[in-house]
Amino acid sequence: MSAKTEQSKVQRVLTGVTTTGTPHLGNYAGAIRPAIDMSNQPDVDAFFFLADYHALIKCDDADRVERSRLEIAATWLAAGLDTDRATFYCQSDIPEIPELSWILTCSTPKGVMNRAHAYKASVDANEAAGVEPDDGVTMGLYSYPILMAADILMFNAHKVPVGADQIQHIEMARDIAQRFNYHYGKGNEFFVLPEAQVDNEVATLPGLDGRKMSKSYNNTIPLFEGTAKDLQQAIAQIKTDSKLPGEPKNPDDSNLFAIYRAFVEPAKAEAFAQELREGLGWGEAKKMLGNELETIIAPMRERYVELMAKPEQIEEILLAGAEKARKISQPFIQEIRQAVGLRRFHAIGSETPNKVKEKTTKKSVKTPRFVSFKDDTGQFMFRLISTEGEELLRSVSFPNPQIAGQEIKALQSDPGAIEFTLVNDLYQLSLNGQLVAVAVDETEVGAEVWKAKLLNQLALFSAE
Ligand code: TRP
Repeated sequence: MSAKTEQSKVQRVLTGVTTTGTPHLGNYAGAIRPAIDMSNQPDVDAFFFLADYHALIKCDDADRVERSRLEIAATWLAAGLDTDRATFYCQSDIPEIPELSWILTCSTPKGVMNRAHAYKASVDANEAAGVEPDDGVTMGLYSYPILMAADILMFNAHKVPVGADQIQHIEMARDIAQRFNYHYGKGNEFFVLPEAQVDNEVATLPGLDGRKMSKSYNNTIPLFEGTAKDLQQAIAQIKTDSKLPGEPKNPDDSNLFAIYRAFVEPAKAEAFAQELREGLGWGEAKKMLGNELETIIAPMRERYVELMAKPEQIEEILLAGAEKARKISQPFIQEIRQAVGLRRFHAIGSETPNKVKEKTTKKSVKTPRFVSFKDDTGQFMFRLISTEGEELLRSVSFPNPQIAGQEIKALQSDPGAIEFTLVNDLYQLSLNGQLVAVAVDETEVGAEVWKAKLLNQLALFSAE
C-alpha cells in the first residue's frame, strides 16, 4: 500500500545479555541464533548489548565480569552478527543509560519494585531460611527493573525479545514509561511503550540431565569454548534411558533428540526420529548428533578463537557500536533533562523576574524556536530549530507570512492535532489534511526518535 504502511513497519528490537557467564549451546539455540536471524530481517532495526551494569548486580567477581563480556561479545560476532546492520554495544559505554535510570528511579513507586520476581524470590528464600527478609539484597537487585527500563526506553524499542522470566520486567518498563509520559510528556508520547516478545517456537534446549540447559544446573553443553573433543565428551554425557541397540526408542521422550531437532531441518529430524523408533543405539545416536553439531559449530568456533585472541578488535567493534547508539541517546537525554527541569539557566530567561532573557545573546538562548524566511520564489517558509540548535522541521511554502504564522501557532498550541505520515522514513506533518512541514533529519536518528523529539520540543512552547 502507501509508503506509510511500508515504512511504519520498521521495528526497533532491543535485547541485552547479562555478562556473568560463558555462552553455552542452550544460549545459542534459545537466544543468540534467533536474535541474529531477526536482526537480518529487512524491517528490523536491532539493538543488542552486553548488560554489564546488570552483571554487577549478580556478580562481584571482577575478573569474571571482564572475561564474560569478552566471551559474550566474541560469541555473538562469531555466530554471525552483522554489526553494520545491528547496533551492538556495551551498556557501560553509554553513560546516558545510568543517567536515565536515576531519573526514572525518581518517578517509580517503591511498591512497584517490591513486586519484582527477582527481589521477591530473594525475600522468600530469606524467610524460608529464617534470616532477615532483605538479607543479601543490594539496592542494585532491588532496582534492577528500573535499569532495565532505562536500557529499553533510552532507545525507544518497540519489541524486546526475552525469556518468559523477563516478561514482568518489560511490563514494569511500560509502566515506568507511561508514568513518565503522563507526567512530563504533557499528553504527548515521550517514550515508546515496549512489548515483550516471547517466541514459543524458539528451542529451549534440555541440558545433560534433562532439565533446562542452564549454568546454574551445571548441565550445559559448551558452544565455542574448548575443542571439538570437549563437545563430543559433553554429548556423551547426555542422559538417555537404558534401552539397548535394536530396542525401539521414543524420540519424543529423548533429550538427545530434542537437541538434534533444534539444529536440523524438520525432514532430517524426522528421519532421525524414525531411526530411533527402529532401534538406533544411543551410542550411535550420540555420534550422529556430535557430527551434526560439529559441522555447524566448527566454522564459528574458529572465528571465535580468532576473535578471543584479539580483544582489542572486539573492543573497537563495541566502541563503534556505542558511538552509533549514542547518536540517539545523547540528544534524547537532553530532551529528558529538559523535560524534568534539569535545564540550562540561560534557557529560562522569559520566566525570571529580572529578565535575564533580554541580556542573553541570541546565540545562547536555549529554547526551541520557529524561524521564518523567504524561499527563492519569494514565498514564505519557516523552520523549527531545537534547543540544541539543529533544524528539526522545514515548512512548505506559503503565499503570505500571515498563513505561515497561523500554522506555526497551530503547531505550538495543539501538537496533538498534527497528522504524521511517514514517507521515505521521514515524517510529513499535516494539519486538517493540509501538508504543512516535513522532517529534517540530519542526525539520522530514525523517524520515531525524531518524532518523540519533535513532540517534546513542541511541548516546550505550551509549557511556557
Ligand atoms: N535482565 C535481562 C536478563 O537477565 C538482561 C537485560 C538487561 C535485558 N537489560 C535488558 C534484556 C534490556 C532485555 C532488555 O536476561
